[in-house]
Amino acid sequence: MKKKQKTSMPDAKDWQLATKMVRGGRLQSPFGETSEALFLNSSYTYDTAEEGEGRFDGSIEGFKYGRYSHPNLAMLEERLRLMEGAEGCIAAASGMAAVFASLMCQLKAGDHVAASSVLFSSCHYIITQILPRFGITYTLVESGDMAAWAKAITKKTKCVFMETPANPTLELVDIAAIAKLCKKTGTCLIVDNVFATPLLQHPLKLGADVVVYSTTKHIDGQGRTLGGAILGSRTFIDDVALPFIRHTGPHMSPFTAWVLLKSLETLPLRVAKHCDNAEVLADLLSKNPKVTRLIYPGLKSHPQYAIAKKQMSRGGPMIAFELKGGKKAAFAFMNALQVVDISNNLGNAKSLITHPASTTHASIGAPERKKCGISDGLLRLSVGIEDVVDLKKDITAALAAV
Ligand SMILES: Cc1ncc(COP(=O)(O)O)c(C=O)c1O
Repeated sequence: MKKKQKTSMPDAKDWQLATKMVRGGRLQSPFGETSEALFLNSSYTYDTAEEGEGRFDGSIEGFKYGRYSHPNLAMLEERLRLMEGAEGCIAAASGMAAVFASLMCQLKAGDHVAASSVLFSSCHYIITQILPRFGITYTLVESGDMAAWAKAITKKTKCVFMETPANPTLELVDIAAIAKLCKKTGTCLIVDNVFATPLLQHPLKLGADVVVYSTTKHIDGQGRTLGGAILGSRTFIDDVALPFIRHTGPHMSPFTAWVLLKSLETLPLRVAKHCDNAEVLADLLSKNPKVTRLIYPGLKSHPQYAIAKKQMSRGGPMIAFELKGGKKAAFAFMNALQVVDISNNLGNAKSLITHPASTTHASIGAPERKKCGISDGLLRLSVGIEDVVDLKKDITAALAAV
């Protein structure tokens, strides 16, 4: 009994986004299940030796081994690909596996990488600690300094890596402007789009070559799984990223891929609610005299508001702010919160507050934090999808307790 695969219909790419997120890539077994099935197995059998040979030489379609692909991964990668409007997608075991693979699959000794200076600490570590061990040099560039970007990106620059908005200061980089520089030198522009989420910013349309995600964040959205994804041209994914991932093994498990397939169905609804709540809370925080600095891409007070308007459709689910009184005030505020949880993670249905200097960005050291504007009083708020009335009450009461 063979089931007709509706998602292989040629019009899947023409579906509206919400339809792609619910139905894109679906494979149904002969049982005709509504919810995608979970295929928890590592390997496959062949009816004949010839079939095994055919699957390996590509003349017969089908799965071979879990490190290469599996049904849940195939469904997820196709759904992510349709969502991003990319030619190809490959998922990975975590966001960092995706970031590392997107760089390492194409770099060699003697190459140069330019990156925005404000980065998640593990991205910073890869560029400043791991790549140099393999003879790859780097330049960190302040996000808004276009003259410095123009100087840093040369013919030797194989990749540019950037986060926009950046973790944790929400600094922005003008994707289209950097893409233009990269085109001149043949440089691969990789954008970590985690903070914008796949719904608010479309780096490939702005000229980027590769987009990476930690699916651990808003794509999962409920704090259950670690995962990552790389999206780009068919040739980049098939000929460059795929061999690297297949042979080095940072693949995504069937269970994670299955959870994420379910998550994607509700991503547009969740991101809209995250943004609605974040806009209310950014406004609330911006009016409180105890808040000395409020950074939110959706507010005119963001130093790079013009870039936000140009490349993001909304301000996003993340807010950064500083309180009068530095670390002591920041800790007092965190400890007074009753609804918002203290965590180093982000992108959850539950609102989460982070003190980057002592957690996510502790490892980059105080001098580097100072250079990046990560003060001891900086807080990062990942706004959840609770009722905003409760979040407002919680934040107002915690500010009063400082
Ligand atoms: C911007 C950004 N990129 C990548 C990662 C890494 O993701 P993962 O924890 O899934 O490896 C993170 C994690 O916080 C992040 O904030």
